[in-house]
Amino acid sequence: MTIFNSLKGFFHRLIYYKRIVPPRHLRRSRHIKEFLTDGHVQLQRLIKYANLNSRSNILDIGCGGGKLVSVLVPFLKEGTYSTFEVNKNYVEYWKNSVGKKHNNFTFIHADLWHSYYNPDGKYKTVEYIFPFDNNVFDIVYLNSIFTHLLPSEMSHYLSEIRRVLKPGGIVLATYFIVNNESLFLDSKGISNKALLKQCHKLLNFQYGNYWTRDGDITERFIGIDEKWLKDTYNKNNLEIIDIIYGNWCGRDESPDKTLQDIFAAQKRY
Ligand SMILES: C[S@@+](CC[C@H](N)C(=O)[O-])C[C@H]1O[C@@H](n2cnc3c(N)ncnc32)[C@H](O)[C@@H]1O
Repeated sequence: MTIFNSLKGFFHRLIYYKRIVPPRHLRRSRHIKEFLTDGHVQLQRLIKYANLNSRSNILDIGCGGGKLVSVLVPFLKEGTYSTFEVNKNYVEYWKNSVGKKHNNFTFIHADLWHSYYNPDGKYKTVEYIFPFDNNVFDIVYLNSIFTHLLPSEMSHYLSEIRRVLKPGGIVLATYFIVNNESLFLDSKGISNKALLKQCHKLLNFQYGNYWTRDGDITERFIGIDEKWLKDTYNKNNLEIIDIIYGNWCGRDESPDKTLQDIFAAQKRY
């Protein structure tokens, strides 16, 4: 079985030799095809909801294993890509494989404490000033980042996002939005099986305006109150232009087939 998997991995690498894909231990998907397909889904979403094109300047907060980076390298010809990420291994890999060859791609390590992703981190997310000037990005993107941050951290990030976005720029971010519908569906035990793990439902512990699945490491899964979130966008001069609800809580699949909920918002002029 192990030899079979190694051979399979070898042939996949051969087929996708033109694509920059991190080694297995730095990506969640076992198969390279799956990894790249997920990247393409994100790319299409950015084109559709954030007007991404080959000249865009994009900030991708928390690049993780870099599904988006893999597909953006051949796409972003004249634009720029920047990311800051708390996991040093991801940053080192992408810096060495892409950053060195493509000077329009920037990878920054932000040593921020996170109970799950960076338990030895030195600094606090709520105090982190993004290492960029005001009004420089056309797009700020957060895929599966706010689903692991506390409301105080989300609020701080949204104010920094407002600062670094150009007027008219778009922030596209994913969440687990808590409202009457998601609370009701989740209580029926029909939430996404892969997210449930051993639990019967996802919204198990409520702390004011946020919910967690787990009692111990709370930042593994965070659901956020919809009204609080909309108010926070508004306070930060970010006008919500699209909401695409995902099927994480057992909702029927949207045409975009998204698991997490997506907010697209524009920085007011
Ligand atoms: C579920 S992964 C998503 C990664 C990537 N965006 C993707 O779609 O594949 C969450 C990522 O957020 C990063 N992260 C956690 N806390 C962060 C913070 N305060 N600022 C930026 N990134 C953070 C983690 O290291 C991890 O790579």
